[in-house]
Amino acid sequence: MGQILFFYGSVAILVLFLVKGFETVQVSSCQVDCKNITCPVYCNCTETRVSCHNKNLTYIPRVPCGITHLNLSNSNISILSINEINNLTCSFENLTHLSLRDCKITLFVGDVFTNLKQLEVLDLSFNKLLSSQKENFQTLQTALGSLNGAPLRHLKLDHLLIQNGEIFKYFEGRNLTHLSMRENQIIEFNDKILQNFTKLVHLDLHDNWINKINLSSGIETLELFNLSHNQINIFPPVFCDNQTGKTRYTHLKNLDLSWNQIIVPYSQNWNCLKTLETLNLSRNDMEDITNDSFTNLTSLRTLILSEMRFSMRRIRREALKSDSLRCLDLSGNGLNFENPKEVDDNVFLYMPSLTSLDVSDNDLGSDGAKILTNLSHLETLIMSHVYLRLLPDDFLGHFPNLRYLDLSRNKIEQFSLEAFQNVGKLELLNMSDNLISNFPVPPLPSATLKNLKTFNFAYNYFICDCEIVKLRKWIKNVLSDPNKTNLISGYPDQYRCYKPQPLHQVLLKDAEPAHCKHTKYELVLSVVCSVSICFVCTVLIVVGYIYRWKIRLFLHTIAHKKDGGYHPLTYKFEYNTYVVYAEKDSAWVIHDLLKDLEEAKYKVYTKDRDSVPGVARCDEIVDNIYKSKTVILVLSKNFTACQWCIYQLNVAQARAVTLGPHFLIPVLLEGIDTKHMKKSVQHLFRTSTPIEWARQSTKNKLFWTELKTALNAELNDDFEETGYQSYNGEYASIVT
Ligand SMILES: *[C@@H]1O[C@H](CO)[C@@H](O)[C@H](O)[C@H]1NC(C)=O
Ligand SMILES: *[C@@H]1O[C@H](CO)[C@@H](O)[C@H](O)[C@H]1NC(C)=O
Ligand SMILES: *[C@@H]1O[C@H](CO)[C@@H](O)[C@H](O)[C@H]1NC(C)=O
Ligand SMILES: *[C@@H]1O[C@H](CO)[C@@H](O)[C@H](O)[C@H]1NC(C)=O
Ligand SMILES: *[C@@H]1O[C@H](CO)[C@@H](O)[C@H](O)[C@H]1NC(C)=O
Ligand SMILES: *[C@@H]1O[C@H](CO)[C@@H](O)[C@H](O)[C@H]1NC(C)=O
Ligand SMILES: *[C@@H]1O[C@H](CO)[C@@H](O)[C@H](O)[C@H]1NC(C)=O
Ligand SMILES: *[C@@H]1O[C@H](CO)[C@@H](O)[C@H](O)[C@H]1NC(C)=O
Ligand SMILES: *[C@@H]1O[C@H](CO)[C@@H](O)[C@H](O)[C@H]1NC(C)=O
Ligand SMILES: *[C@@H]1O[C@H](CO)[C@@H](O)[C@H](O)[C@H]1NC(C)=O
Ligand SMILES: *[C@@H]1O[C@H](CO)[C@@H](O)[C@H](O)[C@H]1NC(C)=O
Ligand SMILES: *[C@@H]1O[C@H](CO)[C@@H](O)[C@H](O)[C@H]1NC(C)=O
Repeated sequence: MGQILFFYGSVAILVLFLVKGFETVQVSSCQVDCKNITCPVYCNCTETRVSCHNKNLTYIPRVPCGITHLNLSNSNISILSINEINNLTCSFENLTHLSLRDCKITLFVGDVFTNLKQLEVLDLSFNKLLSSQKENFQTLQTALGSLNGAPLRHLKLDHLLIQNGEIFKYFEGRNLTHLSMRENQIIEFNDKILQNFTKLVHLDLHDNWINKINLSSGIETLELFNLSHNQINIFPPVFCDNQTGKTRYTHLKNLDLSWNQIIVPYSQNWNCLKTLETLNLSRNDMEDITNDSFTNLTSLRTLILSEMRFSMRRIRREALKSDSLRCLDLSGNGLNFENPKEVDDNVFLYMPSLTSLDVSDNDLGSDGAKILTNLSHLETLIMSHVYLRLLPDDFLGHFPNLRYLDLSRNKIEQFSLEAFQNVGKLELLNMSDNLISNFPVPPLPSATLKNLKTFNFAYNYFICDCEIVKLRKWIKNVLSDPNKTNLISGYPDQYRCYKPQPLHQVLLKDAEPAHCKHTKYELVLSVVCSVSICFVCTVLIVVGYIYRWKIRLFLHTIAHKKDGGYHPLTYKFEYNTYVVYAEKDSAWVIHDLLKDLEEAKYKVYTKDRDSVPGVARCDEIVDNIYKSKTVILVLSKNFTACQWCIYQLNVAQARAVTLGPHFLIPVLLEGIDTKHMKKSVQHLFRTSTPIEWARQSTKNKLFWTELKTALNAELNDDFEETGYQSYNGEYASIVT
């Protein structure tokens, strides 16, 4: 009780003080008094505007003459009376816009706004009127009533804990066009409270607690009605008279019913709204869109049926039938477009005027997109996050007028140039946030690129290998066109490498893929490389050829290290070797072969020198071949022409059957044409490699080493029992 008394007391004192102050202000003339007033220290002034927002000002400052706009938002004026307002005296005749938003006003005292004769726009939002104190609301009623003398057009009463329309008890609102009462606590709304606002065009009741709504009075001038974020249940509000089927909202163009709890899109409630152009039903609890829900909204151009993923189960075949509809938003419904029980295959057949469609955040799967192909007039297609894995080459061709295409947040891994072949009017293309790793270069046909203004392919899985260099080059090239400098949105910041690991998250712009750093010189480098490799090889081959004998000698020495030097003859043989040669080669045999071998203590049998006179020639040959450990065959042209040589060869070959291939040591004195040789000589060439003689001393060193190795080679040691005996019994005695 004491509090109330104190309260009324203070109000009384204030009013007294006011009247006094008011009087003083009244006497002073604007012209004289106002000339000295300068822009308040904490405020920002232009010729007609003063802004003192965010300054925690505890009063309304004095403003110069002629101010039309005053912004005091975010001040700290706890009680607002005509006294504070009187600091605006100099602009009473001129102030049209006043913002007292969030000024911590808890109380209005008297007809505060009476003197603001020209006020058109007033914002009283976010003040601290406590709803529990009814008196505070009565002071707001009075304050609003004091605006009746002003041509107020816009009134903002957001976030004031308003519960009903009683605040307009004294306010006539004859010129009011825009009324905003967002974020209040209205539970029951009856349009009767606004019936005197005969010019109202915009009504914003966003974010109240409305669950009962009566629209039977109608607001004929209303064009925009925002009822979003309320608690409208099951059925949409009834705009149509159930007797006449007519509405009193004859100019309504935009109706926002989003974020309510409407379950049934009961078309009888809105069918009468023949002027309605935009209907937002996003975030309701609809399950089943029944046929012809919107057909009688003959002016409807934009329909938003988005974000109902937790309730939406079905869109029937003719549910969205509308001849006028241009834009349709079906995003965020989690519908499976591949399942005709959820989205009818022909649902898009009944929208002949549709130019814009958003199906984001549904599941189009691999095949769902094909039901869109009837919409040949589409200019905008938004297919973000629809689980698209593939962009079929023939898909976009169905929309020749496409200008805005969003394919972001899908699972596209690759696409081909053909996919964009027939969309020459494209202005915006968003392919960001897909799984594309290898973009074709160029990514788009030049005809498509021509009109493109924005191309976004950020956040893909760029593989920064050598191919990326080409893409980068293309980007650089495109951006160098003065008309295309802003073409690639988000570049370079949002274009980062995904692979390889060392370049993960590195900007595409800066990535230097390994092995292709110097692209320009790549070709030159590879040519130089191959040329030098060729050169080195050639040098090696030439050097190898020149020193081939030395090399072979070296290899031979290594291979036969252990058995170097003369091996003494065993008891079985009389000669180390028997030399078969043609008469004409005897000079070489005697001067070179014999000389060298005998110096090295080898016992050599040559027919011409060692033959015993009187012994039949054939017998002697056979006998001595059998006494020799090896047979050297001096091969030359002469050899092939020599009958005796062939005979001796035959005997030796027969003997070699027993003693093994090492028994025969062919020595090639000169090159011979193998074609014209006797069979036995050809056979010899096939079974063993001749040791070659040449003039050079190096080569001959090898020759001698090879020959001596051959002479020392181990023979088959079982010849005693088998070979010899089997050859011919007649000669058995010769050995023993
Ligand atoms: C206006 O300001 C001047 C000095 O700046 C002062 O001398 C004069 O008294 C002021 N006039 C009024 C009416 O305040
Ligand atoms: C005044 O406004 C201008 C432009 O709007 C701004 O740059 C400046 O910081 C403001 N000054 C103050 C004191 O708020
Ligand atoms: C106004 O008050 C708020 C809250 O106390 C404070 O954060 C802000 O800095 C103050 N602003 C000025 C300009 O004093
Ligand atoms: C009027 O404004 C002046 C500064 O401009 C201020 O000192 C004074 O307190 C204000 N008067 C009231 C009643 O708020
Ligand atoms: C303020 O309003 C008065 C009366 O309407 C007018 O004569 C005067 O020109 C206006 N001042 C400015 C700066 O607009
Ligand atoms: C007042 O200032 C605030 C803060 O900058 C701004 O958001 C608001 O739009 C302004 N109001 C008017 C009417 O200019
Ligand atoms: C507002 O003013 C009151 C005194 O009038 C003061 O106690 C309070 O701290 C101020 N608040 C801010 C945010 O400046
Ligand atoms: C409201 O506007 C009408 C014209 O539309 C005008 O005649 C009338 O005076 C205005 N009301 C006030 C209070 O200014
Ligand atoms: C509307 O205006 C009529 C008279 O024109 C008046 O009787 C009635 O009280 C007003 N209604 C409201 C809610 O202001
Ligand atoms: C029309 O609505 C009123 C009140 O809502 C109701 O009493 C009446 O039965 C309805 N008439 C028809 C034909 O539905
Ligand atoms: C649409 O309106 C026509 C008459 O204008 C009516 O015959 C038809 O039943 C209405 N359709 C729906 C679904 O309400
Ligand atoms: C850039 O655009 C202008 C007009 O939009 C055009 O005249 C000009 O030819 C274009 N330049 C290039 C390089 O395409």
